[in-house]
Amino acid sequence: MTNTTLVQTANSAETSENSLKKPLLGVNIDHVATLRQARGVSYPSPLAAALLCEKAGADGITIHLREDRRHIQDADVYDIAEQLTTRMNLEMAATTEMLEIAGKVKPFWVCLVPEKRAELTTEGGLDVSSQIPWLTDYIAKLQAVGIKVSLFIDPEDKQIAAAVSCGADAIELHTGAYAEASLASDVDKMNDELTRIRQAVRTAQDANSSMLINAGHGLTRDNVKEIAQIDGIYELNIGHALIADAIFVGLEQAVVMMKSAMHQIV
Ligand code: PXP
Repeated sequence: MTNTTLVQTANSAETSENSLKKPLLGVNIDHVATLRQARGVSYPSPLAAALLCEKAGADGITIHLREDRRHIQDADVYDIAEQLTTRMNLEMAATTEMLEIAGKVKPFWVCLVPEKRAELTTEGGLDVSSQIPWLTDYIAKLQAVGIKVSLFIDPEDKQIAAAVSCGADAIELHTGAYAEASLASDVDKMNDELTRIRQAVRTAQDANSSMLINAGHGLTRDNVKEIAQIDGIYELNIGHALIADAIFVGLEQAVVMMKSAMHQIV
């Protein structure tokens, strides 16, 4: 599939898919590559995983090309972009190297994230407010070649205002603190974090009604419902817990189960 076809498919998908006002599911398949890289072999294939997720109802596929290439490799990005029928969300740091790669791959979305070499996963949101000039220019360069840009931020007013001022097409609210509280069964903290995320959604809607609002990080079948029910959330990006479920039930069933948990079918 050509890049132009990809964008056309994604545009038509975007208008129809979310018409039920239920959040879409973007599946992050980085950990399929983590398993492959652990042995330095050619399996399991992130491409095959992406296609299976789509077949099972994923609305998009997220991959993070990290500077240290610890899981997804450059060839994965190109192979997956070539064959996806939904949308690729390419997570990356706002570096010159990644700008060049994104310009060649032309994913539907780029999500800019902070990156630290020593971290196990993306730890906090991007500090947009301290780098507005750099990010404004960076985002404009991506948008100039037809890529929509999302910024992964903590649910804070300061970061939301900065994302709007940089011209981002979307924000992705970091749900990590909520997810950690849920794993610790800390109900008070969960409720505080839910309030913070709900308030952030309202703030973002008030600041720019055309900016899409996504959320993700640490979401599981047990804690996703409360986030999925927040009015105004467009898409949830979920990886680790879904891939973990897949070990027991298979990838397609894991996608179906996550969508059910999001949409309260079971
Ligand atoms: N969104 C962003 C921006 C991320 O960096 C990650 C982790 O790669 C996720 C969502 C998915 O988080 P998890 O793997 O914990 O579901």
